[in-house]
Amino acid sequence: MNNTGKYLFNFKGYNFNSIADMNRVENTENFEIREDDVFVITYPKSGTLWMQQILSLIYFEGHRNRTEKVDTVDRVPFFEYSYPGTDIGNRPSPRLFASHLPYYLAPKGLKNKKAKVIYVYRNPKDIMVSYFYFSNWLTIFETTDTIDDFIEKFLDGNVSGSLWFDHIRGWYEHRHDFNILFMMYEEMKKDLRGSVLQISRFLGKELSEEDVDDIVNQATFENMRSIPQANYAHVPKSQGLTRHKGEYYMRKGTIGDWKHHLTVAQNEKFDRIFQTKMKDFPLKIIWDINE
Ligand code: A3P
Repeated sequence: MNNTGKYLFNFKGYNFNSIADMNRVENTENFEIREDDVFVITYPKSGTLWMQQILSLIYFEGHRNRTEKVDTVDRVPFFEYSYPGTDIGNRPSPRLFASHLPYYLAPKGLKNKKAKVIYVYRNPKDIMVSYFYFSNWLTIFETTDTIDDFIEKFLDGNVSGSLWFDHIRGWYEHRHDFNILFMMYEEMKKDLRGSVLQISRFLGKELSEEDVDDIVNQATFENMRSIPQANYAHVPKSQGLTRHKGEYYMRKGTIGDWKHHLTVAQNEKFDRIFQTKMKDFPLKIIWDINE
């Protein structure tokens, strides 16, 4: 394992942030998988918490009907982060996890193809802008003065999560090894109800019309923003993780915010690299709300 500065830890070519539990990371491949485990896998800033919220709502009636107030991140904990005093392996089934792991560090047991993986992806320009604000907000990340500097870091893979191109390509090209569903952030945004139905079908969960209404209602951007359990409201404050007030984890939640941040030259540079790296990549990417 390489410590590449205070903020990033490199293990087998992949950058983790400083709250990753490195003991666990070194043993992810041998983590014992149960047949009913579900993993939400993403590159950072792609809609992880959104999918965690949807999974929690699908699996927990007390969440759907609002009788239980449990943080979504406690229902669907991060696989590779530290949770003092908790042993995520011993959670009751069905265990739901979120993770940014690259395909090659995922537990080998996931290849039994019974446990399920939901991979959420998002257009990388919006990810980059979201990540710029996020990493300046939280103390676990190195600050970056300008978008221009952040573009550099992002395109060099010098961030937690390493290169977006490698992450999505890796999972996509190895999709036949896993029982995996690819969900696009932008399609979830355009048709949340249809997306919830698609996810629940994949999970083999039968939901009533009323259940689906409850899930969709509690998974909208506006509602997640206003429900503390759904948006990390407690976490940064209680742990002194934020640099400044006023930025929410739920920042904008839109498609195409990159247009307000990238100059023409920055955008062209990004496009050039994207075209080289993603040549022949079949998954559709939506860059604009009108597409
Ligand atoms: P923005 O910074 O562009 O607003 P992650 O959970 O992977 O870190 O992703 C965070 C991004 O997902 C943030 O993007 C956040 O606002 C967005 N997001 C979270 N919940 C959402 C929802 N219900 N609808 C749309 N976007 C959501």
